[in-house]
Amino acid sequence: MRLDKYLAEAGLGSRKEVKQYIKKGQVTVNDQVEKKDKAQVDPLKDVVTFAGEVIKYQEFYYYLLNKPAGVVSATEDKKDRTVMDLFAEADYRKDLFPVGRLDKDTEGFLLITNDGQLAHELLSPKKHVEKEYLAQVKGVMNEQDQQTFVKGIQLDGELTLPAELMIDETDEEKQTSTVRIVLKEGKFHQVKRMVKACGKEVTYLKRIRMGGLALPDDLAKGSYRELSGEELEQLKASK
Ligand code: URA
Repeated sequence: MRLDKYLAEAGLGSRKEVKQYIKKGQVTVNDQVEKKDKAQVDPLKDVVTFAGEVIKYQEFYYYLLNKPAGVVSATEDKKDRTVMDLFAEADYRKDLFPVGRLDKDTEGFLLITNDGQLAHELLSPKKHVEKEYLAQVKGVMNEQDQQTFVKGIQLDGELTLPAELMIDETDEEKQTSTVRIVLKEGKFHQVKRMVKACGKEVTYLKRIRMGGLALPDDLAKGSYRELSGEELEQLKASK
């Protein structure tokens, strides 16, 4: 790989900026100053430094964000704050994006990455990767609703894939339920629309799992962290 590409992808700056650093002699490869931006480096073997600091190369980044309500799952928005606004400057990269959309008022599990291939596979309805949601519902959900979820519901002229509805709690007096819903696809407002099709209404929604990876209890709302190698493997094993 070219040295300037290595440095730019490591997040040191734009291609133009890193070329300047190289030209000025601020970059070393294996303890030798390297002034050619075209010099070839092996990301697995060579030790590259800038201003005396080792610059590690990483192609893909994987962050798990506990999305709070009130921000949109987009990289940019004219009106609202986005999930990318929650990132610290040191972690932010232009190529990061959220994997799939959670509504503005939905909370919970949101993967942020620059790995387009993994994102595609996690979202493809063909791969059947499970997404589990916790929902508070106005109305008492019942066995009939569970069957409706399994049979599928017509949304936008298409039948939804079989989905699981687990009823954790119901309150007849208050006419409310706490449920968990497992989908294998991600249509627009899908949980809310499926619950509505049963004559009830979602009042709170949080995604708590994607594939084999659950939202960790210790990840505070609005915060994010890089996935560990093990967590990434759990996620990749889901597809
Ligand atoms: N289903 C919804 O209705 N909203 C979400 O944000 C995610 C799934």
